[in-house]
Amino acid sequence: MAADFDTTAMATQTTLLNPRFYTTDFDEMDRIDVSPVREDWDKLLAQMKSDPNKGHFKKNADWDKVDWAGMDPALRVEFIDFLVSSCTAEFSGCVLYKEMKRRGSNPDICELFSYMSRDEARHAGFINDALREAGVAVNLGFLTKAKKYTYFRPKFIYYATYLSEKIGYARYITIFRHLEAHPEQRFHPIFKWFKEWCNDEFSHGEAFALLMRTDPKITGTWAARMWIRFFLTAVYSTMWVRDHARHDFHKALGVNIDDYDQEVFRKTSTIARQVFPVELDIDHPRWIPGLRAMNAAMIDMETCTKKGGVTGWLGHKIAATRAMLAFAGLYLIPVKRNTPPASVRLEPSY
Ligand SMILES: [Fe+2]
Ligand SMILES: [Fe+2]
Repeated sequence: MAADFDTTAMATQTTLLNPRFYTTDFDEMDRIDVSPVREDWDKLLAQMKSDPNKGHFKKNADWDKVDWAGMDPALRVEFIDFLVSSCTAEFSGCVLYKEMKRRGSNPDICELFSYMSRDEARHAGFINDALREAGVAVNLGFLTKAKKYTYFRPKFIYYATYLSEKIGYARYITIFRHLEAHPEQRFHPIFKWFKEWCNDEFSHGEAFALLMRTDPKITGTWAARMWIRFFLTAVYSTMWVRDHARHDFHKALGVNIDDYDQEVFRKTSTIARQVFPVELDIDHPRWIPGLRAMNAAMIDMETCTKKGGVTGWLGHKIAATRAMLAFAGLYLIPVKRNTPPASVRLEPSY
């Protein structure tokens, strides 16, 4: 049916908002010494080794029949976009973690990354199964070769990946808890799988928290604080813009996008106190207006790109400047300082 979607092309695109593929200095990462966090490390790795979600990512009797053809067309477009973007993000983790495991020789690092790539492969595969039912699976093999890779220094990989794992946890568990209370709004069975799923993301985040704790320089310097602040602002504002482009999807779930995003930021920020020395002030009076200004500028950028020509080009430049100013405004909101606790480990509690 929905053959009008070229999901592989959607996933391959490199835009500001699409999930990216990353590469890094694998040798530097391979030199990490986890001895300063050995006790917590061994516990976490033993838990990952036990593979609690081994049988989870399989369709069973809970997987109700999906009426793709009867779905409201606007909702179908946005839901497929959501699935493609989630699948790309999961697969991006899989590719990066697998590469780390393949290139590394440090047994601690190789073991961690083999468990994490195992999990992300399952996650991406499970979403792709849902897309396959709609006749629009993403060609993941093609994606590995065709998609552009963004290089990040290991330090930035820690900040970005830690955040995306923890925000992934917060997103999945918030949707799950909402639909647990409002099952009539669960318009697709995949949401039933989110609870165990988010626990994988939680422990991946824990692993990065431990990696960051191996060396005080990673989070303890002035420059580190500036970069962490930058990544927090970038990840949060990107999520805001991306979610606000999916009006019908959130309406079908019965979710107010502003409230949902703020709730996800709040959970993520609370968790991130385990390791980040700064926290964004999402209750600051300039926070929501700044996000709205950024969203409006991004929408105008897209409209101008579609318009083309000289006016489109000029309009795009103006809108891009507005987006940058909005981002700078968000970045400059005073942050809250935080002293991470002596013991870094957390358990999922939402
Ligand atoms: Fe995942
Ligand atoms: Fe993950």
